[in-house]
Amino acid sequence: MDIHRNTWIEIDLDAIAYNIKQIQKKLPKETKVMAVVKANGYGHGSVQIAKQALQAGSDYLAVALLEEAIKLREASIKAPILVLGWVPPESAIVAARYGITLTVFQQEWLEQIKGYTFSPPLHLHLKVDTGMGRIGIRTEQELKDISQALNENNSIYLTGVFTHFSTADESESTYFDEQRTRFKNTLSQLKELRMEKINVHIGNSASAIRLPEAMYDFVRFGISMYGLYPSQEIKVKGEIELKQAFSLHSRLVHVKKINPGDCVSYGCTYQAEAEEWIGTLPIGYGDGWLRKMQGFSVLVDGKRMPIVGRICMDQTMIKLDQAYPIGTKVTLIGCQNDACISMDEVSNYAETINYEIPCILNDRIPRIYKEQ
Ligand SMILES: Cc1ncc(COP(=O)(O)O)c(C=O)c1O
Repeated sequence: MDIHRNTWIEIDLDAIAYNIKQIQKKLPKETKVMAVVKANGYGHGSVQIAKQALQAGSDYLAVALLEEAIKLREASIKAPILVLGWVPPESAIVAARYGITLTVFQQEWLEQIKGYTFSPPLHLHLKVDTGMGRIGIRTEQELKDISQALNENNSIYLTGVFTHFSTADESESTYFDEQRTRFKNTLSQLKELRMEKINVHIGNSASAIRLPEAMYDFVRFGISMYGLYPSQEIKVKGEIELKQAFSLHSRLVHVKKINPGDCVSYGCTYQAEAEEWIGTLPIGYGDGWLRKMQGFSVLVDGKRMPIVGRICMDQTMIKLDQAYPIGTKVTLIGCQNDACISMDEVSNYAETINYEIPCILNDRIPRIYKEQ
């Protein structure tokens, strides 16, 4: 569809490749990158990011939903894909048909697909809950039950085992180390069951940055592939330089002078104290640009200008330091000349984490992909 609006997101694909190279430099040779492109590539565009990640040296892709994996296959992506979340057992037939690997962690789930014949065979990775408390097996008995159920169907292969850390992005490491110990126990139990010749992966971005030498076969590289640090602690201690791939821009669609006492937007929460130039931007909370951003700044002509009045569903007003022509570029996230507004600054202001902002800036805003 043609684009008829003056607000857009730019995705710097070179930054994605750069960030993958940065983590590869830290990892031992045998540890490969599994690019995490769930939630539409953290709002960056799953197909474009997956293709770029594979070109930049990733070997595997991960998503949360079967639908997300099928979307990648329908875009002719042939690389291995792991679905990290729960999929209805009856959908396992579809997964096998598309050559998509699923996550298993319930014997009841395997019971339900016991009678199916998968062609090609269904590949599964076993999820172990070592302390995240979300999904995964927790006991040796569950492992034994799953192993037995797997033995009963020779069109199902267990090709991997993994866990996920709860506190990898914090500087304190006691709980992180406890989870690693529990996982090692599960690996020993798998060995006893002769199920050890499978791919092993435990780490997300934070784990990979803090302990690259302990990541086994794959790193599930999400937030830092997009150039964002999982936390301030990892940013300070991690010794890795990342490039933010995502920037958000708009253009002035209306500029006017208002008089002292004039109001801007719903509820009259902003009233001019003097004569002021006000610009209107075609972006609002209907795009995922949160109402909470009232009072934050944007960049115009390389300078910060405040957002004044309530953010509307489709429009946002800013106070300008002078009259600017209609069509002047405004940057809400990213850089203009040497001035930058980082994703972290936006997420701190919105009292959330940097992961959430690109995910909630929805597909009303077109994504434009740039590479040199
Ligand atoms: C199971 C699992 N692995 C890996 C990741 C990627 O984590 P990150 O974006 O912190 O690298 C996620 C993301 O939430 C996840 O749920």
